[in-house]
Amino acid sequence: MIFATNNAHKLEEVRAILGEEFSLTTLREAGITEDIPENEPTIEGNALAKARYVWAKTGCDCFADDTGLEVDALGGAPGVHSARYATDGHDFAANRTKLLRELEGVRERTARFRTVVALIIDGKEYTFEGTVEGTITCEERGEGGFGYDALFLPDGYTQTFAELPAEVKNDISHRGRAMRLLAGWLQENR
Ligand code: IMP
Repeated sequence: MIFATNNAHKLEEVRAILGEEFSLTTLREAGITEDIPENEPTIEGNALAKARYVWAKTGCDCFADDTGLEVDALGGAPGVHSARYATDGHDFAANRTKLLRELEGVRERTARFRTVVALIIDGKEYTFEGTVEGTITCEERGEGGFGYDALFLPDGYTQTFAELPAEVKNDISHRGRAMRLLAGWLQENR
């Protein structure tokens, strides 16, 4: 199946979550080198738009994911705009700096990651959602992971996603939960 990503971190995570049973092809391997538009107003809309784009171009079974970090004190921002929060590109460090600045002096720092996975198989569409609740730290902690991981402390843990071992993150994360729903569906229906 084509996994609609060129993000090496995500690919590594999803391969570890889904296991050897599933063989994944990246966008580049499928010959899609252009950026797929992500202009929908919701996470689900973006996940579906990415999967539909790949399906239209290749006719192959595929899935795409889209993730947002929803910070309650910011009314759910950056949410669907998480990738382009600080700049037009995917500048992870600039996004983290902006988030810390927006939350300066804010005590209520609850947040969640939300992932929607959109699957298109034999032309039919399915979606799976995973969330993880936590809080935003006051400074960056940890070297692992990517994106906002160094600022996200999952509920029940004292280490951020960037400090926790990858297996622990995958076990409890938004993407881990959504991808295991996808894997369960595929095991039952294929
Ligand atoms: P995407 O559109 O699914 O790539 O996710 C949008 C943005 O959310 C990314 O650019 C990252 O900044 C952030 N993000 C997605 N997944 C994670 C994660 O597992 N940890 C931290 N940040 C993430």
